[in-house]
Amino acid sequence: MRKKPFNPANDGAKTDLAKTMSYGDYLHIDTILDQQHCLSEAHDEMLFIIQHQTSELWMKQLLHEMSAARLALETGKLQNMMKMLSRVSKILEQLNNQWDVLRTMTPADYTQFRETLGLSSGFQSYQYRMIEYIFGNRNTNMLKAHEHTPDAYTKLTTELARTSFYDEVVGLLFKTLDGTIDAMPAPHLDTHHEARPEIQARWKIVYEDINSHWALYELAEKLVDIEDYFRRWRFNHVTTVERVIGFKRGTGGTSGVQYLRRMLEVELFPELWHLRGEL
Ligand code: HEM
Repeated sequence: MRKKPFNPANDGAKTDLAKTMSYGDYLHIDTILDQQHCLSEAHDEMLFIIQHQTSELWMKQLLHEMSAARLALETGKLQNMMKMLSRVSKILEQLNNQWDVLRTMTPADYTQFRETLGLSSGFQSYQYRMIEYIFGNRNTNMLKAHEHTPDAYTKLTTELARTSFYDEVVGLLFKTLDGTIDAMPAPHLDTHHEARPEIQARWKIVYEDINSHWALYELAEKLVDIEDYFRRWRFNHVTTVERVIGFKRGTGGTSGVQYLRRMLEVELFPELWHLRGEL
């Protein structure tokens, strides 16, 4: 006799969902699944769209974590902050793993729909810029590409008026070691974050006696973790781009791979890297 298929209703699964909130209602699945509008007949355009959209969703989550981590830091909830920072690294790892799927798209696949993209490019991702800004890498030349979307522009300029997450960390470093932030260099509100010797000197004290400064040491290594994953994201991106378009110009107008290689040099927490050569 053939075995009857398992019926989850016998296990209590609710199946009469017409008058109650269901999975699809709660998550707005219909809305999300209705937002992939391919402009060509090319098979791979769907992958290209989904890859970008899912990246933007994870970026949203990353920003959610980073805003809360900064608040936790400002209000002295350091353990909560550490937990969120661990999650940020994992989100970046998730984003890194995604490249494996996109890498299956060949130049032949991409050229079938590249024309339809017009000038659109990840260069115009405001959430990506926001991530850089919240960490502390604040290149205001990147703002111009967002002038056409006032909401995004306002979000970015509002972020620039705030102290970056890294400068908050630096504040904690000075307060803990000096007992005051008097000697702390002014935060970089809207400038690129360059290594500052006073800060590097403080991190050196931490790294040379980690047992006396364990909390700061742990925090510093969390930041290095995050930046390590972030660098891998940039490297995965530029390698995928070279694989797919070689040295052609980007749809956003830049030199493409050459531009992205230059971006590999960006440092989020420079003192923590420069310090290593001194230890
Ligand atoms: C085959 C796929 C891809 C190609 C060929 C590509 C190409 C490029 C190029 C050439 C640039 C430089 C700006 C320009 O002139 O357009 C760029 C920037 C960028 N792309 Fe992609 N990209 C791809 C996939 C992705 C994906 C999946 C994401 C995820 C959101 C992404 C996010 C970004 C971001 C954030 C930038 C700005 C980087 C910066 O300014 O530092 N790209 N991309």
